[in-house]
Amino acid sequence: MKVNGVHTRAIWPSADGQAVEIIDQTVLPHAFRVLRLSTVETIAEAIRQMQVRGAPLIGVSAAYGVALAMRHSADDASLTSCMALLADTRPTAVNLHWALRRLDTVLRPLPADQRAAAAWLEAARLAEEDVEQCRAIGRHGVELLRRLAESRPFLSRPGEPLRIMTHCNAGWLATVDHGTALAPIYAAFDAGLAVNAWVSETRPRNQGLLTAWELSEHGVPNTLIADNAAGWLLARGACDAVIVGADRIAANGDVANKIGTYLKALAARAAGVPFYVAAPRPTIDFCCAAGETIPIEERSGDELRLLHGLGDDGRLASLRQLPLTAAVVNPAFDITPAALVSAIITERGVCEASPIGLRGLYPEAEP
Ligand code: MRU
Repeated sequence: MKVNGVHTRAIWPSADGQAVEIIDQTVLPHAFRVLRLSTVETIAEAIRQMQVRGAPLIGVSAAYGVALAMRHSADDASLTSCMALLADTRPTAVNLHWALRRLDTVLRPLPADQRAAAAWLEAARLAEEDVEQCRAIGRHGVELLRRLAESRPFLSRPGEPLRIMTHCNAGWLATVDHGTALAPIYAAFDAGLAVNAWVSETRPRNQGLLTAWELSEHGVPNTLIADNAAGWLLARGACDAVIVGADRIAANGDVANKIGTYLKALAARAAGVPFYVAAPRPTIDFCCAAGETIPIEERSGDELRLLHGLGDDGRLASLRQLPLTAAVVNPAFDITPAALVSAIITERGVCEASPIGLRGLYPEAEP
């Protein structure tokens, strides 16, 4: 999508082909900083520190990490150890393991001297697949939104924009391009459908600021809200649909996504507002029977104790709002039960959040 009017992706190979470049998401929206990552170690650290984040982007970044590692050393032991390093970075987004499995399947049978080139090609292929999957999610999602807009006389005054609430950042910054939850919103906007996005702040890391930034850069009207405002806005009829992304969808349709998603799903159900989850195939974990077995990442308490932004001098600054010793708990994701999900939007179409719904779209999936 666009930054300053220029088409931009969240990750791309450097011009000299020796590294990848990413947008450092820890300083957005205050600064736009491009980082060059040329080793698997720097990629692993960028994932861990959330300079790259969002399930699909984590997967693609890890694939490039393997490719860079293979340039250094491509024997079986190196392949195994770089996979272990990357697999250990973040536990919830299953796209990471999907990408590593894909690379392992391609590389393991090859002689060592062919692995670096094959890995780079496969990482690039994964990136392009992600773009196409997200584009297709946009196509299917916009049809849902069109139908919703056509029923608008029952929802609010005709002629007003469709009001779509989202959580965290599931836009192009979290993928390679287009995004998952934001893909239908971008597709609707690009097709001339009037939309306005309610963007929840998403404490403690405020990924909602990334969402507001990328929507604004593309020209999509949006309004930031405190996380705690979501229930009230839904209850008073100020929202026509909620669309979120996912870090892992279990075989029964339970959804792991950014902490706070579950509260929105509960409020949407109470208000009779549809609650959609948009995600591509690599986010669906058919090996995971139900949400309760999805590992939930617990992140540092400092994410709650410290606030980040710009100081009075216009420089990046942090502010301590709690002492180091303050007890905090910081689960990064929650599970929304399938029963609260109105539908899942994938690159293959829209399905019910159920084993039958998911299997219907992916009959070939194992197990
Ligand atoms: O901790 P993050 O910022 O990586 O979490 C991101 C999310 O929860 C997104 O909603 C999810 O990955 C879907 S991204 C297209």
